[in-house]
Amino acid sequence: MIQVKLALDQLYSFISKEQIIAYDKQIVSAYRKIHNKTGVGSDFLGWVDLPSGTNTDLLIRIEEHAAVLRSKSEVVVVVGAGGSYHGSRAVIEAMTHHFSHLLNDDSLPAVLFAGQNISEDYLADMCDVLDKKEYSIIVISKSGTTLEPALAFRVLNAHIEKKYGHFEAQKRIVVITGQRENALKQVANNESYESYVIPDDVGGRYSVLTPAGLFPIAVAGIDIKAFVAGARKMEVFSRAVGKIHGNPMALYAAARQALLASGKSIEVMVSYDPRLFYFTEWYKQLFSESEGKELKGIFPVSANFTTDLHSMGQYIQEGERKLFETVISVIKPERTLQVPFTENDYDQLNFLAGKRLSDVNHQIEFGTKTAHIGSDVPIISIEIPEINPDTMGQLMYFFEMSCALSSYVLGVNPFNQPSVDAYKRNVFSLLGKEACNQEPPLLE
Ligand code: PA5
Repeated sequence: MIQVKLALDQLYSFISKEQIIAYDKQIVSAYRKIHNKTGVGSDFLGWVDLPSGTNTDLLIRIEEHAAVLRSKSEVVVVVGAGGSYHGSRAVIEAMTHHFSHLLNDDSLPAVLFAGQNISEDYLADMCDVLDKKEYSIIVISKSGTTLEPALAFRVLNAHIEKKYGHFEAQKRIVVITGQRENALKQVANNESYESYVIPDDVGGRYSVLTPAGLFPIAVAGIDIKAFVAGARKMEVFSRAVGKIHGNPMALYAAARQALLASGKSIEVMVSYDPRLFYFTEWYKQLFSESEGKELKGIFPVSANFTTDLHSMGQYIQEGERKLFETVISVIKPERTLQVPFTENDYDQLNFLAGKRLSDVNHQIEFGTKTAHIGSDVPIISIEIPEINPDTMGQLMYFFEMSCALSSYVLGVNPFNQPSVDAYKRNVFSLLGKEACNQEPPLLE
């Protein structure tokens, strides 16, 4: 069952239903381009059929291998950047106990992330932890040459070799990379590291349903079969309803474009649940790399409420009126906690006693939405009943498809990232690597 619900009624005082429905033809045409592989960037449409095309044998292999890694690791370090990082982190952080690292629960390893920055302190601090813990490394890079993960892997590889010796280190390293020959693939072959492939036709930010996302998610103890099954439900639905009516992916894409046409060029992805913090980070990469080109696109930002109501809340309420919000609501929390009653009511909060914290959170969500709408901030609402592997799979496919549709309607290639590629080349150029001069650098 499709559990991602979209509501657009809080837009109608800003833009009309007709303004959204007006995108019907463009959405149908975008769907055709996606399913017939006829649009720009059609070499990168492998993600569309991934949920239904994923081989059960691959899932079993990943689960079994992940269990082996878990059994020998207190910590697993996932090394990757961009699309080789955000997807798995989004799912893992959404479904992991907030303070698991302090619980000393031996059943699951702590998952740490490296290779998404070049901070000396960050990696040195991580090595302090790894000195004391049993650990393994998953290194992910489709190109196999991205500087941040390559540098992090170099440092961590030296550490793991020193700690365990070559033979044991070999068994504690997993490589996930592209199909083509590349530096990382060569290392994996030379060192006989167990490895997995990111298909050629799936770009980084659409790769959460490839081993790049699935392997780390499985290591964290999350049910990847249920995750893929959730995405599959959305895939099947999207195939059956390749039009705007009754199709939340299409309606979301059309509503965004209608808002952009009415002058709303910044989308704030809002969640009232801190478990979705990294999901909103994943969303930012997906939409900014897909839409932000040729001087076009909606600028994606994120806010975590109520935390950011004490900071960004000011701007959203009274700053420049270019914003709209997309609020992802999670109806049911995983845990139950009520506001306690106190005899002396020292903080005068007894009027909330007995209420669940989630009820208070939902009331604030309702009130904040009303206040923001009153301040000329249109709101798109997306609701899931709870966070679990199934709903996360549905949500991620929902956003991938909406993003591709939205980008095609905008008239850009959703699957390239020329400026990110230029940055990658340029970074080597700035560091003085000879081969990088083959491609023109971005900066003079
Ligand atoms: O979406 C993309 O293609 C990029 O953000 C990449 O995922 C990111 O740059 C990392 O690339 P790679 O996996 O080749 O190291």
